[in-house]
Amino acid sequence: MADWLKSMTLNKFLILLLVMLSVQLHCDEQHRKPNVQTEMAADSNGRPESWIQWLGGFHLLLLHFPIALIWFTGFSDLMYRWMKNPIYSAMSRITLIAAAILTIPTAIFGLMLKFTSTFEGADEALIFYHLIAGIITMGLALIVVWIRESTGFSKIYGIAFILLLISVSITGYLGGSVSFGPEVMYFPKS
Ligand code: HEM
Repeated sequence: MADWLKSMTLNKFLILLLVMLSVQLHCDEQHRKPNVQTEMAADSNGRPESWIQWLGGFHLLLLHFPIALIWFTGFSDLMYRWMKNPIYSAMSRITLIAAAILTIPTAIFGLMLKFTSTFEGADEALIFYHLIAGIITMGLALIVVWIRESTGFSKIYGIAFILLLISVSITGYLGGSVSFGPEVMYFPKS
C-alpha cells in the first residue's frame, strides 16, 4: 500500500472524502430540461443581463453545499452514535455550522436568480414552493445549530435535525423539478 495511504488518518480521509464529494457535485452544472418553460432573462448564450442576475447564478454553485453538508452531518451523527468516537461529533458540529452559514448566501442568490428570471406555467408554482422551502431550510438550519450548541446531542436536537434533513431534501427536489422537470425523480417507465 502506498505510504501516503498508510499514513492517512481517519480524520484526514473523511475530510478528503467531503472535499471530493463537493467537487463531484459541482461537475454537473448547466442542465436544463427539454421544452423548458422557464427562461432566464438572459441572451441566447445564457449571458446574464444584469449584475444581480450574474450574482444569482452563484445559487447553482452554492446550493450543493447545504444539501451535502446536512446529509453528511446526519451520516457523521449516526457514526458517532454507533462508534462513540468523538471525532464524528466534532466533524458533524463543523459540517452543521458550515451548512447553516452557507444556507444564507444560497437563499439570497436564489432570490436574486428568481427575481431576474421568468417562470411560467407549472414552473411558476414550483419556484414559489421552492422559495418557501428554501427560506424554511435556512431558518431551520440556524435554529438546529443553536439547539445543538445549547443542548448538545439532545432529543430535541435529533427531532429538529430530522426536520432539517427533510426540509433540505424537499427544497432540493423542488429546485431540481424547476430545472429538470417535475418528473425528474420518477422511476423510469421501462
Ligand atoms: C437552502 C436553500 C436552497 C437549496 C438547497 C436550493 C436548491 C436548489 C436546487 C437543487 C436547484 C436545482 C439546480 C440545478 O441543479 O440546476 C435550485 C434551483 C433554483 N433555485 Fe434554489 N435552493 C435553495 C433556496 C432557494 C431560494 C430561497 C430561492 C428563491 C426563489 C431559490 C431559487 C432557485 C432558482 C431561481 C433556481 C433555478 C431554477 C431554474 O431556472 O433552473 N432557491 N435550487
